[in-house]
Amino acid sequence: MKLQSILLTVLLLVSIQYCVKNTSVDPDAKYDRKVDSLLSIMSLKEKIGQLTLYTSDMDQTGAFLRPQYIDDIKSGSVGSIFNAYGSEYTRKLQEMAVNGTRLGIPLLFGYDVIHGHRTIFPVPLAEAASWDLQAIKKAAEVAAAEAASEGLHWTFAPMADIARDPRWGRMVEGAGEDPYLGSLIAAERVKGFQGNSLYDLNTIAACVKHFAAYGAAQAGRDYHSVDMSERMLREVYLPPYKAAIDAGALTVMTAFNDLNGIPATANKFLFDQILRKEWGFKGFVVTDYTAIMELLYHGVAKDKHEASALAMNAGIDMSMQDGFYDQTLADLVKDKRINEKQIDIAAARILKVKFKLGLFEDPYRYSNAERQKAEIMKPENIDAAFDMAKKSIVLLKNENEVLPISNKVKTIAVIGPLADSKRDLIGSWSAAGDWSKSVSLLEGLKKKFPSANFIYEKGSEIDKDDKSGFNKAVSAAKKADIVILAIGEAFWMSGEAASRTDIGLPGVQEELAKAVHAVGKPVVAVLMNGRPLTINWLEENVQAILETWFLGTTAGDAIAEVISGDYNPSGKLPVTFPKNVGQIPIYYSLKNTGRPFKAEDKYTSKYLDVSNEPLYVFGYGLSYTKFNYSPIQLSSSEMAENGTLTVSVDVTNSGKYDGEEVVQLYIKDKVASVSRAVRELKAFEKIMLKKGEAKKVSFQITKEQLSFYRADMSYGTELGEFVVFIGGNSRDTQSATFLLKK
Ligand code: BGC
Repeated sequence: MKLQSILLTVLLLVSIQYCVKNTSVDPDAKYDRKVDSLLSIMSLKEKIGQLTLYTSDMDQTGAFLRPQYIDDIKSGSVGSIFNAYGSEYTRKLQEMAVNGTRLGIPLLFGYDVIHGHRTIFPVPLAEAASWDLQAIKKAAEVAAAEAASEGLHWTFAPMADIARDPRWGRMVEGAGEDPYLGSLIAAERVKGFQGNSLYDLNTIAACVKHFAAYGAAQAGRDYHSVDMSERMLREVYLPPYKAAIDAGALTVMTAFNDLNGIPATANKFLFDQILRKEWGFKGFVVTDYTAIMELLYHGVAKDKHEASALAMNAGIDMSMQDGFYDQTLADLVKDKRINEKQIDIAAARILKVKFKLGLFEDPYRYSNAERQKAEIMKPENIDAAFDMAKKSIVLLKNENEVLPISNKVKTIAVIGPLADSKRDLIGSWSAAGDWSKSVSLLEGLKKKFPSANFIYEKGSEIDKDDKSGFNKAVSAAKKADIVILAIGEAFWMSGEAASRTDIGLPGVQEELAKAVHAVGKPVVAVLMNGRPLTINWLEENVQAILETWFLGTTAGDAIAEVISGDYNPSGKLPVTFPKNVGQIPIYYSLKNTGRPFKAEDKYTSKYLDVSNEPLYVFGYGLSYTKFNYSPIQLSSSEMAENGTLTVSVDVTNSGKYDGEEVVQLYIKDKVASVSRAVRELKAFEKIMLKKGEAKKVSFQITKEQLSFYRADMSYGTELGEFVVFIGGNSRDTQSATFLLKK
């Protein structure tokens, strides 16, 4: 037995060495050969082990692995572990796999590094509000470097799910409602995580999720069914996943939902047809948490064997947490319900990622205590998080230029249940982030305004009915020159399993706002939340509103930077804010309908009780300065189908501050074989203008921006008239018309 395992190890090393020396021009070919030689000496059980992923757990004494999983590692029945991090802990688990199994195949360690690992960045929806692709990429780079220094190889991010229903709590994890913005952001996140080479010690594999259309859960209720046309799927929901795959994402996660009746985890059309055949995806697919088991509850499989067969036949390579593959695949091969080749293919895809990470050369290369110490929360990482946080803030209202606050201000009342919170600031999915290290708003303000006198009152809880703190809050407001009111959601109110039907301010916070506002002092509402909120009263009454989402470790400093005017806000909403829940779904790229809204005509598309207009449109966000847009200049009034057209505007900073503006370009196809959206984002540029400065911003229109799924579902353009719109949000725009010709 001993001799046999020595021989096998020698054979494995020789074959791997052979392949290293014989690398060909195709960089991936060397891995394929390594994988094949390894597979050739693996038993069926060992191959199935590679398709299994189990969690590590945490209790008061720290991280631990369930005894059953330790046995599974030692018997080669598990190939990957998630929720385990830390150089020492991952090394300990890795030793079990490397020294305790016949072939010593290293484990892959995965984790939800969604917006930072230890240094927590703004929640993904907030980052999207920056429209700053370089900063977003940088955030992913920092997250990857910190995670990799703690032994991690793989993150379950980015979430590329388009979300148009703010009741769905997971909207916070994505880039909002728009496929174009969402695609660019998903691609940058992948590039940030994976860097130039997965072999580098500061990069980790990305996992695009949740394939597909998870964000379209009916009524915004998490895990709910999704029913949509193939046109909607291809036009709106698929592009961000595709962009992430094109950017090189090595893994994909299935969605929990069913899509038109077929659960994603058993959906051959999604994984076999679209992902692999149409998009050429070569990496591996992991299920979401226990999603193969959930096929039983979906009612598409009568037992675990049937569930596993469905998933395997749909092209799903790795099962997360339910152990169904481990328990059933050998039987399924024996009964010829799947064949061993399918298992080989799935195992090969997973092993290839392990090779790419360099784990066969040194299984411990990521678990390095010294690197961990040097990397975690180093000053450059905090600086990157601070930069991202400032850029993610959206100024929603600023009446009479109440913001920024002068540094001569004498007394500031800081009121509200989120004013001195630290835990909430790091949001949901905060990985290994330590909330006690985050800067609260109160702390940030005190640093920024050292000579001001501060009065802090909590006023109320976030979600309780108790108003006993109102009196003190009101008297604080009376003594102050200005009130900073920090209200919104608790961190756990968005994220997974955090759907809400009422997306107003929870608890008695609106009443607190009313009581404080009644004092008559200027009120600046600082919102912290993971989704759009219906805040009509605030919009109508308080002087200023800052949307700050959950900004991460440096939140309080970043908000203080904006309140003081040291940073001029530049964020723009990546998602529409409705006036009430009844308007949902509401997004800017709607269809015109056959009866577009006319106030004077009852029989047009509208509500009796609320206007069609949202509270804040997509792309909206103010600055302390003003930007004026010239009329649009076109290089020609016609464009040849395979040619280009240059579209320009002059943007002038006519206000009192230097500032950044996101210049947004939208297009409408006036007449087509299918009804097209009233406008669609097709390009943008974030520019910096000094006060008084003007800049010409030019965009090239190409065929790609005019293409769509035509009536017969073929993809391409149709000749005719197009309208191009340019402006600082999706509503207030200049426009011009051009003709697309043969
Ligand atoms: C979530 C995934 C996540 C996974 C692992 C699931 O519940 O839906 O997004 O990656 O858990 O933590």
